[in-house]
Amino acid sequence: MDHSLEHHQSYIGRPASELPTPSLVIKKPVLDANIRRLHDDVDKLGIGFRPHTKTLKSIEVTRMMLKGGKYRKVVCSTVPEIAGSLPLVKEGLLDECIFGMPIFKGVLPRLQVLSEQIKIDLLLDNDQQLLLLDSSNKSSWDVYIKIDVGARRAGLTADSTRLQDLVKKVEASPRVNLKGFYCHANHSYGCRNEADTRAMLQTEIDSVLQAASLLPPEKPLEVSIGATPTAHVVNTLRAAIPKNISLELHAGNFPTNDLQQVSTGVTPIDSQAVRIVAEVVSIYPERNEALINAGVIVLARETSAFPGSGKVTDRPNWDVVRVSQEHGILGCTKGDERVDETFKVGDRVWLWVQHSCITAAAVYVYYVVDENDVVIDTWLPLKGW
Ligand SMILES: Cc1ncc(COP(=O)(O)O)c(C=O)c1O
Repeated sequence: MDHSLEHHQSYIGRPASELPTPSLVIKKPVLDANIRRLHDDVDKLGIGFRPHTKTLKSIEVTRMMLKGGKYRKVVCSTVPEIAGSLPLVKEGLLDECIFGMPIFKGVLPRLQVLSEQIKIDLLLDNDQQLLLLDSSNKSSWDVYIKIDVGARRAGLTADSTRLQDLVKKVEASPRVNLKGFYCHANHSYGCRNEADTRAMLQTEIDSVLQAASLLPPEKPLEVSIGATPTAHVVNTLRAAIPKNISLELHAGNFPTNDLQQVSTGVTPIDSQAVRIVAEVVSIYPERNEALINAGVIVLARETSAFPGSGKVTDRPNWDVVRVSQEHGILGCTKGDERVDETFKVGDRVWLWVQHSCITAAAVYVYYVVDENDVVIDTWLPLKGW
């Protein structure tokens, strides 16, 4: 859906400075380098890799993350992400998908339909979810049990008796085949240095291996760990993996990064591939602030070690200090620069965002630019649930 006066493709070949505002701009050389960095790390370790499609929800980016079919599995957070990735199955690049939330009733019929075109595996963290599968026409599903490694979002902790019970029930159920254990350290976004992030990676691997030890040592199992902060330090991984277990890393945010990732201290500020371009609408010298046309919808109300809701890329002392729906307020958070000497009405401002996954979900088109900020392509994200 595109309501702009000009079709998004009409900007191809033009400088990003001519884009409508606010727009989401992806710097392709940075995106490429971020993907390459992670591919190199997992290749060196010789472990599996499963990209999550949730950040840009873009078939173009998923294709890149799969590295020409070297990696053949994804994890998706929505049905449109799976349905929109089916051309990659036809292209011979993609075989399998994990639906990335513990299975719920409303989505099961749609996953069942999609499973005729791509192998779909499920996550479980409660024995009641097993009962749901009784209503499914599919005779058997491959499942991973979700392990909570401290985020207290989804999953069971590796030392819990509920996990032991669930493993027994899954093993006894004719409706499911236990493939392994899956964790996601989303609380690793709170890490502020490499040592803490490495410790979080260790917690992930220790937790899934502890869970796997509930099964007989001859049973083949897969364990899937990762979040972008821990993925950024995966090259430090040292773990003794039992012979029956195969290890894979999953990650989703890594192609873009954002201020939250930079805050973890394991990726530099220039590894951010996503910026929002906005416009200065008004200036208020009396309160040393400026109004821009990017608010909470496109910048999100997310936080990190960086103040505010966005950072002006080329004026490091200026941040988006307050937001309402589509209004944003620029303020000087360091030093004593004057707004009327820094900005004028009509200026374009380029912003780093706190959390690119949320920002990306707000827009209908991504403008892809080269190293000179010339638009080379437009990508349309897969919308909806
Ligand atoms: C279940 C699950 N797995 C993997 C990921 C990927 O994590 P990240 O985007 O930090 O790489 C997410 C992201 O939220 C997730 O929800």
